[in-house]
Amino acid sequence: MDKMMMKDILKAYGPSGREAQAAEVIKQYVAPYVDEVYTDAMGSLIAHKKGTSGKKIMLSAHMDQIGLIVVAIDDKGFLRVSNVGGVNPIIATAREVVFENGVKGVTYFENTSKHGVNEAKMKELYVDIGCTSREEAEKKVSVGDMAVYVTNFVEMGDRLSSGAMDDRICCAVMAEAMKQMKSEHDVYAVFTVQEEVGCRGAGPAAYAIEPDLNISIDVCSVGDIPECDKMAVSLGCGPTVKVMDSSVIVPPVVRAFMEAAAEEDNIPYQREVLRGGGTDTGAVQRTRRGILSGCVSIPTRYIHTPVETVDIKDIDNAVRLLCACLKRKELPHR
Ligand code: CO
Ligand code: ZN
Repeated sequence: MDKMMMKDILKAYGPSGREAQAAEVIKQYVAPYVDEVYTDAMGSLIAHKKGTSGKKIMLSAHMDQIGLIVVAIDDKGFLRVSNVGGVNPIIATAREVVFENGVKGVTYFENTSKHGVNEAKMKELYVDIGCTSREEAEKKVSVGDMAVYVTNFVEMGDRLSSGAMDDRICCAVMAEAMKQMKSEHDVYAVFTVQEEVGCRGAGPAAYAIEPDLNISIDVCSVGDIPECDKMAVSLGCGPTVKVMDSSVIVPPVVRAFMEAAAEEDNIPYQREVLRGGGTDTGAVQRTRRGILSGCVSIPTRYIHTPVETVDIKDIDNAVRLLCACLKRKELPHR
């Protein structure tokens, strides 16, 4: 994995519905390795590499990240916000954030005398952008503008931590797979929009492409941290082959196809049963008359925080697993 590419894709601005900057960064990296790159009406970026078999495989990873949206600006220039996707207000307190135009701010919450930060609510959260009046603030941001966490790229041996790993690390995995893969099939790498607000972008893209198989790539939670729910997924033990999440039950024929590809190339993998949370996998599955759809996940700690943590071995093995799937002649079918 090209670490420069990984960092560039991770740090690009792109909350749900505002993915254009992220799309532009990804496009620069993926364009040299495909036959065409285009954007659909939803904003999803589609990189297509032509094949000869007459069959189509879609890969999908979402470009959007969670964020905060300005709902009102008060007399003193503080911004009141709501969440875009699954933002926890407690985790969103005392953070540095940045808007699309580069304006920086910090977050805090009102009501400190009534309760502590452990009970912070989204309605109490505000962003301080260093202004003293509404007029001054309105010169920098407007109602409807979105902010995202400013995060560091922390390297801890094989473990990497950053905001937006969900799902930019998988955008990087998909871009790298498009560079390395060989396939006789048409391959469409779809960098989808608006996953974090309800998997809205993947379905329309799949409808247009009408693939014979979709493989989504997203992050999944793990069972190897203190006091967490039981789960047979650990960091560093391989990407997962999804069995189920709250959006999808992956057809056994699709899992068998992915597991056979992994075993043939000696790629470690884990079976993932995710108790909660949906992915584009399900949105694609229910498009048209139904589409065969599976998912590879990167085991990730602390999802939807500024310190989402992954293992570089799982990232490299996810690229290998996608390439192993793409090179298979026989695709799964019912
Ligand atoms: Co997410
Ligand atoms: Zn995700």
